[in-house]
Amino acid sequence: MQIGIIGCGQLARMLALAGWPLGLKFSFLAEPGDTGDCVLGLGNLVSMPDDFETMSAAALAEWVYFALDKPSVITVEKESVPVDLLEALKTHCAVYPDPKAVRICQNRGCEKEFIEGVGATMAPKIIVNTMEELEAAIEQLGFPVIVKTCEEGYDGLNQWKMDVAGDLVKFLASHDSIVESVVEKRVNFSREISLILVRAADGRTASYPATQNWHEGGILRASLAPAQNIDNDLAKQIEDLAERVLGNIDYVGVLAIECFVVDGKLLVNELAPRVHNSGHWTQQGAATSQFENHLRAIAGLPLGSTDVHGFAGMVNLLGVEIDAQTALKPNAFFHTYNKSVRPNRKVGHINIVHNDANSLKLQLDKTLAAIYS
Ligand SMILES: Nc1ncnc2c1ncn2[C@@H]1O[C@H](COP(=O)(O)OP(=O)(O)O)[C@@H](O)[C@H]1O
Ligand SMILES: [Mg+2]
Repeated sequence: MQIGIIGCGQLARMLALAGWPLGLKFSFLAEPGDTGDCVLGLGNLVSMPDDFETMSAAALAEWVYFALDKPSVITVEKESVPVDLLEALKTHCAVYPDPKAVRICQNRGCEKEFIEGVGATMAPKIIVNTMEELEAAIEQLGFPVIVKTCEEGYDGLNQWKMDVAGDLVKFLASHDSIVESVVEKRVNFSREISLILVRAADGRTASYPATQNWHEGGILRASLAPAQNIDNDLAKQIEDLAERVLGNIDYVGVLAIECFVVDGKLLVNELAPRVHNSGHWTQQGAATSQFENHLRAIAGLPLGSTDVHGFAGMVNLLGVEIDAQTALKPNAFFHTYNKSVRPNRKVGHINIVHNDANSLKLQLDKTLAAIYS
């Protein structure tokens, strides 16, 4: 079966690496500026036609469908994909997840409306479109806040933390205007966890145990799963959240939910309609990786077990050159993305497995220290 992937970054790479043993074949659509290095050798790489901006969605969809070798299913590896193209592609083949789910996650405002709509809790927030609205929102919420543009934000990009009035003054002095943004109260979380869920086309679902995550400067640094010290109350909240989200969205594939834990309460931060960096540990730590399960779901295959034996962690390689010789240990596994190194760029990760959670945490910390200090 041919799978078309919109995007050709590391998530596309790891999907293809997981799909080849299943007999799946891949083609990738590169957007302007994408080099395609990550997917070199893994399938047909196609660039958007030069005149794509002047083409109708229907004409572009037809072009893309044929260029991607008439795939049975098209999926995405990132959020910033033209939804009208995805909608138009549905006239040619299955598109999973549904473009409507991608649309919800593309805009933080829509995403938060959806999260509120399913009855889940979030940090207090206000959507703003002008500098005046920004000032009024901060007045209402009180410092500290974080301002995030509604679109085109990922890995901490297009976000501003403001702790005191002086930070707002600086922001106002250095910006003439503001695009649609969400002003969020900064919460004092005890930790961040994420949920990696999968739903098949026949409605069956599976979930991996919650993952604990550590971010630096808005970018994921490390994960550990299963997250430790989840009491019954938090476990119930996690289960309830997964049900509420999957029960209210027509979804096929892997979906990630990023959360904060504040005073034992689960607050949703954001959703990602795709395989997720905080699920990379599943490559070594779970019976079926998130990549394989995404493919199983979208290809109409039976979902794989999400069982975990022992504990698994992941350390992101951000803007650092590490080779297999350095990274590999008996219980450490190296995943490089074939990318050139630039500051903070995700160029690979190391997965570590252990039968003891404390020993794993120590090894994660040691690995982080060796790489970043
Ligand atoms: N309201 C908040 N309170 C405290 N920390 C936050 C808040 N929002 C974001 N952060 C921190 O910034 C990180 C990145 O923010 P996020 O909204 O997930 O953006 P991105 O789309 O870039 O991942 C989060 O993982 C968290 O560590
Ligand atoms: Mg995030």
